[in-house]
Amino acid sequence: MGWFSQDIATMDDLFQHTLEDIYYAEHQIEKALPEMIRKASDPELKKGFQTHLKQTKGHIKRLDQAFKKLKLKPRGTKCPAIEGIIEEANEIAGEVSDKVVLNAALIGAAQAVEHYEITRYGTLLAWSKALGRKDVGRLFQANLKEEKATDKKLNGIAKRKINKKAVARKPKQANKLQQQRMQDVMAQATTGVPTL
Ligand SMILES: [Fe+2]
Ligand SMILES: [Fe+2]
Repeated sequence: MGWFSQDIATMDDLFQHTLEDIYYAEHQIEKALPEMIRKASDPELKKGFQTHLKQTKGHIKRLDQAFKKLKLKPRGTKCPAIEGIIEEANEIAGEVSDKVVLNAALIGAAQAVEHYEITRYGTLLAWSKALGRKDVGRLFQANLKEEKATDKKLNGIAKRKINKKAVARKPKQANKLQQQRMQDVMAQATTGVPTL
C-alpha cells in the first residue's frame, strides 16, 4: 500500500496503514539492536541498548494487542523511512574507526530511530482518539512513553560523558597521515601545483 495511492480511502485505512508501518519498523529495530549492543563499548550505553531491546519486544506485543482489538491480522507494511535510518546508522558505524567516537555515533543513530518512533506513536495516539478508540490509544501511549524515556536516557549518557570523551580523543597517526594527504590533494586542486 503506497502513500497517496487509491488503497487508502478512509481514515480507518490510513490508521491501519500507519499501524502496519510502525509494526514493520519495530521488527526492523528489533533486528538492528543486537549489532548496536555489540558495537557499543561503553557499559552503560550497552546496557541501555539491551534494556531497549527488551522494551522493543514489548512494543511489538502491544502492537499485536492493538491489531487484535481492531480485529485485524498483525502485519507490517514496508517502511522506507526506518530502512533509511537504519541503513545510515550501519554506514556511519562502519566508517568510525575510534571506538569512543563510535559510541557518540551510535547514540546519534539510536536517537534518530527513537524520534521516528515518537512521531509515529504520537500520530497513532491522536488518530486513535479521533476515531473513538481510546482502548487502542492506551497501547500506543505506553510505547510512546518508553520511546521518550529512552531518548531522554540517551541524551543523558551523551551529555554526561560520551560526547566529552569523544571530543577528547586524539586522531591516530594513521588518521593524521590521511588528513595530510587530503590537505595535499586540496592544495593541489587550488594551486595546480603538486605538493612534494
Ligand atoms: Fe519501539
Ligand atoms: Fe525505540
